Amino acid sequence: MRYQGREMDVDGRVRMVMESGLTARDRVGVQDFVLLENFNSEAAFIENLRRRFRENLIYTYIGSVLVSVNPYKDLEIYSKPQMERYRGVSFYEISPHIYALSDNTYRAMRTERKDQCIMISGESGAGKTEASKKILLYYAVTCPTNDHMAMLGDRLLQSNSVLEAFGNAKTLRNDNSSRFGKYMDVQFDFRGAPVGGHILNYLLEKSRVVHQNHGERNFHIFYQLLDGGDDELLITLALERNPQNYTYLVKGNCPRVSSLSDKNNWKVVMKALPVIGFTEEEVQKLLNIIASVLHLGNTQFGEGEEGETHITTETQINHVTKLLGVDGSALREALTHKKLTAKGEEIISPLNFEQAMSARDALAKAVYRRTFTWLVQKINQSLALKQDEIYQSSKGSSVIGLLDIYGFEVLLQNSFEQFCINYCNEKLQQLFIELTLRSEQEEYETEGIAWETVQYFDNKIICDLIEEKHKGIISILDEECLRPGETCDASFLEKLEDTLGGHPHLVTHKLSNGKTRRAVSREEFRLLHYAGEVNYNVNGFLDKHNDLLNRNLKEVMCQSDNQILRHCFRRKEVTDQKRPEMAATFFKNSLTKLMEILMSKEPSYVRCIKPNDAKQPGRFDEVLVRHQVKYLGLMENLRVRRAGFAYRRRFEAFLQRYKPLCPETWPNWHGSLADGVSTLVNHLGYNEDEYKLGRSKIFIRFPKTLFTTEDALEAKKPDIALTLQTSWRGYRERAKYQRIRHAVLVIQSAWRGMKARRRAKKRRQAAELIRRFIKGFIYRHEEYGPENDYFLDHVRCSFLKNLRKNLPKSVLDKSWPTPPPSLVQASEYLRLLHMRNMVVKYCKNVQPEWKKQMMQKVVASEIFKDQKDNYPPSVGRLFLDTRLEREQISLKVIQTLGNEKVQYGVSVIKHDRKGYKPRPRQLLLTHTFAVLVDRTKIKQRMDYTALRGISVSALSDGMFVLHMPSEDNKQKGDVLLHCSHVIEVVTKISMMASKVNYVNVNAGSIRFAVARGKEGIIDFVRGPELKVTKGKRGHLLVTAPEINTT
Ligand SMILES: Nc1ncnc2c1ncn2[C@@H]1O[C@H](COP(=O)(O)OP(=O)(O)OP(=O)(O)O)[C@@H](O)[C@H]1O
Ligand SMILES: [Mg+2]
Repeated sequence: MRYQGREMDVDGRVRMVMESGLTARDRVGVQDFVLLENFNSEAAFIENLRRRFRENLIYTYIGSVLVSVNPYKDLEIYSKPQMERYRGVSFYEISPHIYALSDNTYRAMRTERKDQCIMISGESGAGKTEASKKILLYYAVTCPTNDHMAMLGDRLLQSNSVLEAFGNAKTLRNDNSSRFGKYMDVQFDFRGAPVGGHILNYLLEKSRVVHQNHGERNFHIFYQLLDGGDDELLITLALERNPQNYTYLVKGNCPRVSSLSDKNNWKVVMKALPVIGFTEEEVQKLLNIIASVLHLGNTQFGEGEEGETHITTETQINHVTKLLGVDGSALREALTHKKLTAKGEEIISPLNFEQAMSARDALAKAVYRRTFTWLVQKINQSLALKQDEIYQSSKGSSVIGLLDIYGFEVLLQNSFEQFCINYCNEKLQQLFIELTLRSEQEEYETEGIAWETVQYFDNKIICDLIEEKHKGIISILDEECLRPGETCDASFLEKLEDTLGGHPHLVTHKLSNGKTRRAVSREEFRLLHYAGEVNYNVNGFLDKHNDLLNRNLKEVMCQSDNQILRHCFRRKEVTDQKRPEMAATFFKNSLTKLMEILMSKEPSYVRCIKPNDAKQPGRFDEVLVRHQVKYLGLMENLRVRRAGFAYRRRFEAFLQRYKPLCPETWPNWHGSLADGVSTLVNHLGYNEDEYKLGRSKIFIRFPKTLFTTEDALEAKKPDIALTLQTSWRGYRERAKYQRIRHAVLVIQSAWRGMKARRRAKKRRQAAELIRRFIKGFIYRHEEYGPENDYFLDHVRCSFLKNLRKNLPKSVLDKSWPTPPPSLVQASEYLRLLHMRNMVVKYCKNVQPEWKKQMMQKVVASEIFKDQKDNYPPSVGRLFLDTRLEREQISLKVIQTLGNEKVQYGVSVIKHDRKGYKPRPRQLLLTHTFAVLVDRTKIKQRMDYTALRGISVSALSDGMFVLHMPSEDNKQKGDVLLHCSHVIEVVTKISMMASKVNYVNVNAGSIRFAVARGKEGIIDFVRGPELKVTKGKRGHLLVTAPEINTT
C-alpha cells in the first residue's frame, strides 16, 4: 500500500534527517506535525506553521501530506540544483518540499507501477496553481526525455499559460485566480518518460464573462488582447484599446493589475498557441470569438411602445455578426425573440427588455464557456499520445494526475458557484477520509496493535444531503426546474425546507430559531459543511442551474462559418428534444467521474494555505490561517495520524539509531529485533503506556518520549563518535594491511609462477636436448642428418673447444686430443697446421747462433739419425763452436794458416794407416780445408775439394775416416781419426766441405786406402768398453760399447 509504503520510508533512514533536525526544533518548529507534542492544540499547530513561515520554511508535513504556506515572494528553492537535490531521495530524507512529494510520487509510480494522483487544495490564492506548475516543471526537467518528449514537456508547460489566459482572472483574493477546476493527467511510458497528457476542466465560472464584482476583472484574455494585440489586429476585430469602452470589462472597475503584465502575457500566449498546435486560422477564429463577446456586451436594446425590444446598437451587432460568421438578421431575431415548442408547434414570442438582456448575456457566457471547453480539447489533442505510440506506451505505462481545484469558498454572498465549489470540497474530503483513515487502520491491523477508534467527522452525511437521489439538494433543484407551473428561487427554498427540514446540516430562516435565525436571511439556506457553516443565497440558483440558452440562439450559432463555434454548437443539440443535463447535475456527474479517477489512483496531498489576504510576503494572519487550517481539516488530519501513536518505526531502524543508549544493545545486538527493541526501551525506562511493540514496528505514543530519547542520543554522540572513530581507524588499517598482504601474495605468486615456468621451460629444453643427444648418439654412425646433427655438432664442437684448450705448446710436445671419428681428417689437418704455425713461430724467434746450431743438428740428423748408435745421445748435447780455445792452438800454426781462419778445432787421435799407432793430434777446420796439427806443426792438410768421402761406423765409437786421394801430392791419402765428439766433427766437416752426402755410415767394416791399390779395414764390434786395438789380419778392431738409449 502506498500510504504504508510512505511509512516504510518514514521508518527507514529518512527519519534520521528529521530527527537530527529535531535539535533545531525550537527555532524552526517540527517539520512533521506528527511530532508536535500538543497535537490537539490548534494554537500549537499554527505556532509551528508561523515559526517555519518566519524562516521561509513554507513546507511542512503531516505524515505524508504536504502543507504549503504561500510565501508571496520568490524563494530560491525551485532551481535546477534544488531539483537534483530531491531527485531519487526518499520522502522526508531532506527538508519538506513540493519536489520531494513530486519525486516520491514519481518513484512510487515507477516502482509500484500504480497510477498516482496529487491533490492540491486550498483556498483561492493559497498557491495551488503555483504548486501544480512546480510539479509539472519538476517532471519536465528531471524525467528522462528525448526530442519528442521534450516537445511534450514544452507543450505541457505552455498549455498552462494559455489555460490561465482564458480561465484565470483577477479576483479580490488572487490576481491570477483559476476560475475553473483542473485535473491533469501526465502519462509516463515504461521508462518513466512523460509521453502524453490530458486535461479535464470543471465548472468554468462563466458568469464572470458578463459580470465582475468591484475590484475584480473578467478573464485575462480580454485585457491581454486589448493591451497586447497590435493595431492591425484590433482593427480587424473592430476593437478599441481602452477596456473601459466595453461593458463586460467595466463592472469591476479594475482594468489593470499591477502584478500582471497583460502585454507580456499576450506575447506568451501568442507564442504558446502555435506550440500547442493551433493553426493561424484557428487563432484568428478564436480571437474573433473573444472580440465578439466584447461587442456582444456592448450590444444594447431598446424597448418599443408595446413592450417589444429591438437592438439599438447596429454597429456592435454587425461586428458580432461578422466576427462570428452568422446570419445577421437571424441573430437579431434570436436576441429579441424566443422560440418555444408547444404541442409539436413552434411558437415565436418576443422577449421583453430584461429577457433580451439576459439572452444576450447567456449567449456571451455560452459562447465563452464552450470556446474554453473547445480550447481544452484542442490542448488535449496536442498532448495526446500519437497513434503509433499508444501501443508502445500502454505497455507498463502509468499516470500521475494533478488536481488543482478550487478550495472551500466562503464569501459574503455565496451563490450557486460557491455551492458547487464547496460541494466539490466535501467530496474531496470524503475521499481523503476514506483513503487516509483506511490506510492508517490497516497499518495498525497488520502490526497487531489494538486500535482505539478515533472520533473524526465523517462528512458523508453532507455529501448525501447535497447529492442523494430524489432527496438531495441537487435533485430538488432539478425537480424545481422541470416542474410545470411557476417556479422560482423562493419556491426552491421552500421545497428544500419541505423535503430536508430537520436535517442536522441544513438550516434556513424558517427552520431555525433564536440566534441562528438572525444569521440566516429569508433568501438563504445554510449548510453546515465539514469545514464550517456557509449561507447560500438562493437568488439565481434556478437560472444558473437551468443554464438555458434560447434554442433559436443555438440554431444561429450552429450555422456559423466559424469552425470553432460550429464545433461548440452541434446541430444535434438543437434537434434533440431531450433536455440537456442541468448545471449542478452535470457537475455532480463529472465529480463522480473524477472521484472514480482519483479512487483508482494512489493519492498524495498538498494542502495550500494563504497567510494573509493582502498578498504580502512575510505577513502571517493568524485568524485567516486558523480558518484555513480548520476548513482544510488539517487538525483532523493530524488527529487521525496521531490517534494511536505519534511515531512509528521499524524495529531494525529504531534499534539501529538508539542502540548506543543501552550497553546491552551496543554495539551489536545478536538476539531477535523485537527483543532488542524491548531491552532498549526497558533500559530507557519507557512507561507501559508510552509505547507498543507491533509485529515489525515500535509505536511511540507521545513525541516527548521520542524527543527525550533523541536528546539522550545527542548527549551520547561524542562517545559514539569516539568508538566509531576507533573502530573505523582499526578497520581502515586492517583493510589497508589486507590490501597490502593481498598485493604481496599476488606479486609473490606471479613471481613464483614465472620462475616455475622458466624452470619448466628449461627442463623441457634440457629433456629435449638429452633426447636429441641420446638419439644422436645412437645414430652417430649414420649420415649427418636431422637424427644426429645435434649430437655430431656437439661432439665436434666440444672436440674443437677441448682442442683449443689443449693445443700443444711446443713443437716437441706431441700430444693431441683424440678426435671423434667424423673429425679425424680435420684433426690431422689442424694438427699439421698447428705444428707448422708453431714451427714458423719458433723459427721466427730463433737466434743466429742457435740457427747455426740447429742447422748443424739438422745436418747431423740427416746423416746419423737411425744410423749410428751414439747419435741419439749426441742430440741433446750442443755442438760447440770449437773445442779448442785459441790459446790451445799454436800461434805458429795460426800464422801458417795465414788468412784461413780456424773455424773449429778439436783434439783427435790419429791412427796410422799402418800399424795403427795412435797419435794425439789437433784437427782444425777452416773454410776450405782441414789440418791435422801436432802441437806446432801442421802434419796434414786436407782440402775439402779433394775430400772423397767420410766413413763412420754404425756403433758408438768415435772412429771416422776422411777419404782423401793419395795420388795427389798435396794429399797424403785417407786419414783414420778417433774423436769422442765424432758426430759433431763429422757434421762440421761435411758442412764446411759442403759434402754432407759424402758421409757413409757403415754397418760392418770400413775400408780405407793405405797406399795406391792397397787398402786397410777397420772392423767394428760391440764390446764392453771402447777399445781401439790391432785386430786379426792387420785389421783395426774397434770395440764400441753398447749404448743404452732407454
Ligand atoms: N510557492 C510560491 N512561491 C512564491 N509565490 C507563490 C507561491 N505560491 C503562490 N505564490 C503567489 O501566490 C499567487 C497565487 O497563487 P495561485 O495562483 O497558485 O493560487 P491558487 O491557489 O491557484 O488560487 P486560485 O484558487 O485562485 O486559483 C501567485 O500568483 C504567486 O504570486
Ligand atoms: Mg489557481
